[in-house]
Amino acid sequence: MKQFKLAFAIGFVAIAACSAAAAQADGDTVTAASKNPLGSSPDAVAAGEVLFGKMNCAGCHGYDLAGGMGPDLTDPAWLYGGKPGEIYLTISNGTQTGMPKWNDKLKPVEIWQLVSYIQSKAGH
Ligand code: HEC
Repeated sequence: MKQFKLAFAIGFVAIAACSAAAAQADGDTVTAASKNPLGSSPDAVAAGEVLFGKMNCAGCHGYDLAGGMGPDLTDPAWLYGGKPGEIYLTISNGTQTGMPKWNDKLKPVEIWQLVSYIQSKAGH
């Protein structure tokens, strides 16, 4: 009986850990304070650059990210905050005033790649 309880407890912990990982993967748990799990990895920056062109972010923000119809993403001024989690949420949810939402078109990992790319250009 004791062993059964132990196995049950281990199983429960494993299930809880899996569902936490799944929530992370679908982006549900991202907050303004979240850190970019990809950081400034060169692979993530390169993948973000490809997405920035492919998804036509560049059409509104410019290929140099310096702005066009959408705002400059390289200057220190942020409308919705320049921390990784804040940039993630702006891209994911969009805004009422012109920025489309991308959470139905991009996977969380792709949004983080875009965050890595944008942050590699910020302040340049
Ligand atoms: C249709 C034009 C358009 C497209 C396409 C677009 N954006 Fe935007 N974006 C905007 C506008 C306009 C704003 C400013 C929104 C506002 O003032 O509410 C904005 C805001 C943002 C911000 C917030 C900037 C700040 O100062 O806080 C980020 C980050 C951003 N866009 C990234 C992206 C990325 C990444 C993509 C591609 C996946 C993208 N945008 C595609 C128009 C666009």
